[in-house]
Amino acid sequence: MEHHNRRKFLQAGTALGASLLFSPAVLLAQTSQKGNHPTGNHIANAKARSLGTGNHRIEVSALGLGCMGMSWNRSFVPDRKYMIETIRKAYEMGVNFFDTAEAYGPYINEILVGEAIKPFRKDITLCSKFGFAIENGKFTQGLNSRPEQIRKVVEASLKRLNTDVIDLLYQHRVDPNVPMEDVAGTVKDLIKEGKVKHFGLSEAGVENIRKAHAIQPLTAIQTEYSLMSRDPEKDILPLCEELGIGFVPYSPLCRAYLTGYINERSTYVAGNDNRGSLPRYAPDAVKANWVMIDILEDFGNERGLTVAQVALAWLLAQKPWIVPIPGTTKLAHLQENLWSADYVFTKDELKQLTTAVSKIEIVGNRYATPQTG
Ligand SMILES: NC(=O)c1ccc[n+]([C@@H]2O[C@H](COP(=O)([O-])OP(=O)(O)OC[C@H]3O[C@@H](n4cnc5c(N)ncnc54)[C@H](OP(=O)(O)O)[C@@H]3O)[C@@H](O)[C@H]2O)c1
Repeated sequence: MEHHNRRKFLQAGTALGASLLFSPAVLLAQTSQKGNHPTGNHIANAKARSLGTGNHRIEVSALGLGCMGMSWNRSFVPDRKYMIETIRKAYEMGVNFFDTAEAYGPYINEILVGEAIKPFRKDITLCSKFGFAIENGKFTQGLNSRPEQIRKVVEASLKRLNTDVIDLLYQHRVDPNVPMEDVAGTVKDLIKEGKVKHFGLSEAGVENIRKAHAIQPLTAIQTEYSLMSRDPEKDILPLCEELGIGFVPYSPLCRAYLTGYINERSTYVAGNDNRGSLPRYAPDAVKANWVMIDILEDFGNERGLTVAQVALAWLLAQKPWIVPIPGTTKLAHLQENLWSADYVFTKDELKQLTTAVSKIEIVGNRYATPQTG
């Protein structure tokens, strides 16, 4: 069974190599024709996904690209021109789901993404977010989702993104001072006006998801979810399933922890990397949790997969309407991450892997303060 599965994976890799010669539109058209793909249906299913199952679902690539770290919050800031190239290569490789936010920088990441996607703007799903209190390029106090602020941010984001519509607009964090009905109502109006196509929430709890969905049906919930942070399994994923809302795991590689690339000696640039302030990246927690990397490495070694690929393939295997958005600044990592969508677990191996990782008691909270509202 294992050999059979590995053969399928290698075939998938070859098929993807060949598919890079085609335009993304051709690739997606091919993959959506069930049974016509030379390498079989499972690959077709892996390449394009429906984010959600309800009337407001959207069809996107199986993995999106989280663009935040290309200009902010991951210690180093690479040369802009290489990041523009990386975003454009991602598109050539079949990615059509790009994630940014007003807060990333602030502003500079939206500007970068807006410039990079210009040649293929109409062929992709462009996602951004509002909700932090930011004035004149500086974070002020906490959150701000007041209706007039949402409108102001959307107008500014449209300019920075070089576009006349945001395909998927998320509230970045629930604002306890603004009723969710007012937030959803404002986004509903923006959709009517043609400035936004779809609505999403990030780190929202059950009650707020239900409130928002009743006013303006949601396309996606974007919340941290990975083998290191499995809280959404308790109530958010079941609710998404019930309401037909898609789920976008952010930090799906646990900010590089689930690649084996960072360890207890890793350091982070103060002021441009939140990992230095997150309990899970403290040296003791990194060491205590390393058993996770050992398990993923053992699993991957037998099957020709890297730790990052096992972590992403596991997420994709949880639900067909989940679309992770790993971030990277490196083309090699991008390719590696995209290939994770070609791996198909057998039922038994998925169960065994899940059982093994579920025994680990993760040390260190994902944030120093609660995020879900
Ligand atoms: N809604 C929210 O509140 C929220 C919060 C955080 C993030 N996000 C979104 O989610 C996206 C991804 O999250 P994230 O950047 O926090 O975490 P992530 O995707 O879990 O991890 C990104 C880190 O992993 C490294 N990496 C990626 N692929 C790798 C590979 N194959 N091998 C080795 N290292 C690899 C990257 O470094 P290299 O550049 O060296 O590859 C980067 O430092 C962001 O870009 C953003 O769009 C949303």
